[in-house]
Amino acid sequence: MLDTEKNLLFLHYRAYYFSMTEPLPHWYLLGAGNMGTLAAWYLTRAGHTVSVVTNSPRLPLQKQLIFANQRMSLTLPCVSPAELPPAIKHVLVASKTPYTDSALQRVKGHLNNETQVLRFQNGVGALDGRLPSGSVMLEAITTSAVKGQSPQHTIVAENVTWIGGTAQPPEWFEGLQIHWPNLHWEADIRLVQWRKLVANAVINPLTAFYDIPNGALMNDPALLDQARTLCSEADALLAILDSQWPGDSFTAVLEVIRDTADNTSSMRADYQRGATTEIEAINGWLLCQAKNQGMDLPSHRRLVEALTSTP
Ligand SMILES: NC(=O)c1ccc[n+]([C@@H]2O[C@H](COP(=O)([O-])OP(=O)(O)OC[C@H]3O[C@@H](n4cnc5c(N)ncnc54)[C@H](OP(=O)(O)O)[C@@H]3O)[C@@H](O)[C@H]2O)c1
Repeated sequence: MLDTEKNLLFLHYRAYYFSMTEPLPHWYLLGAGNMGTLAAWYLTRAGHTVSVVTNSPRLPLQKQLIFANQRMSLTLPCVSPAELPPAIKHVLVASKTPYTDSALQRVKGHLNNETQVLRFQNGVGALDGRLPSGSVMLEAITTSAVKGQSPQHTIVAENVTWIGGTAQPPEWFEGLQIHWPNLHWEADIRLVQWRKLVANAVINPLTAFYDIPNGALMNDPALLDQARTLCSEADALLAILDSQWPGDSFTAVLEVIRDTADNTSSMRADYQRGATTEIEAINGWLLCQAKNQGMDLPSHRRLVEALTSTP
C-alpha cells in the first residue's frame, strides 16, 4: 500500500472515530453565494449538515455546482432567524464584507462563548469586535475561484484553501480534509492571510479603477510601477506589525497576476455594476493599521478615495 493510501486510510479511521465520539457540526451559513455554496458542498461531503439563514423562510435552495468535469446538485435547507435554536455552535460567514453586519444580524442573540465562527471572506477584520467574547473565530483563506449567479456556481479554479486561527485544529478538521481537495490547517493563519490581502489590495483596486482584466497589469509599465509602490507601502507596514513578515510582496503579487491573467477581479466586477466593493476590508484595513502606527500609505489612500467617492 502506498504511503498516501495509508495516510488516507488513517484519516478515514480518525474521522470515523471522532464522528462516533463527537457529532459532526451543523453549520448555519450566512451568505449562500459562490464561496458559501462551495464551502457547503465540501462540508456536506464530509457528513456535516448546513442550513442557510435567510430573513424570510423559504423552500430549500437547489444549488448547481459546475466543476471542471462534472455538474453536481446540492440541496440546502433554509431557516429564518425566528426558527434558530437558542444557541448556535457553528456559523459560517461567507457574505461579501460590506454586508457582514446585516448577515450577523440574522443570528443576533444566538452566538455565545461556545460558538465556532468560520469566516470565509477576503480582507481582514470584518468580524472584529462583532462576536461574543470567548467565541472561537477560524479564518479560511482560499485561492480557489467560483463565479456565477445563484443557484448556478461555476468552480473556475480549485486551488489551495487554508483554515486556521487556533493552536490546534477542531476535531472535525481531519475528516473535512478527506473531502476538501488541498485543504490545509495553519495555526498561525495571519501570514497566509496577509499574503492574500496584499495581492487583493494591489490587483483588485487597480483592475477595478482601470476596468481591466488582471493580466493587463503586466502589459503597462506605469501600472506595474503602481503595483510595485502599493506592495512596498504594504510591506513597510506589515513588517512593523510583525517582524516575521517576509516582505517581497511584489514577487508574490506578480505570480498571482500571471496565474489569474484572464480573470476579472471581484472588485472590478462589483465596481462596474455599481455595487459596494470590499475595498474597506482590504486597503481600508491597511490604512487603518497604518494610522494606528502614525503612518500614511498614500497610494492605497488614493485608490480607496477614488473607488469610494461618488461620481
Ligand atoms: N468567489 C470567489 O471566487 C472568492 C474567492 C476567494 C474569496 N472570496 C470571498 O468570499 C466572500 C464571498 O464572496 P462570494 O463570491 O461568495 O460573493 P457572492 O457570490 O456575492 O455571495 C455573497 C452572499 O452574501 C449574501 N448577501 C448579499 N447581500 C447581502 C446583504 N445585504 N446582507 C446579508 N447578506 C448578503 C448573499 O447570500 P444570501 O442570499 O444567502 O443572503 C450572497 O449570495 C467575499 O469576501 C469574497 O471576497 C470569494
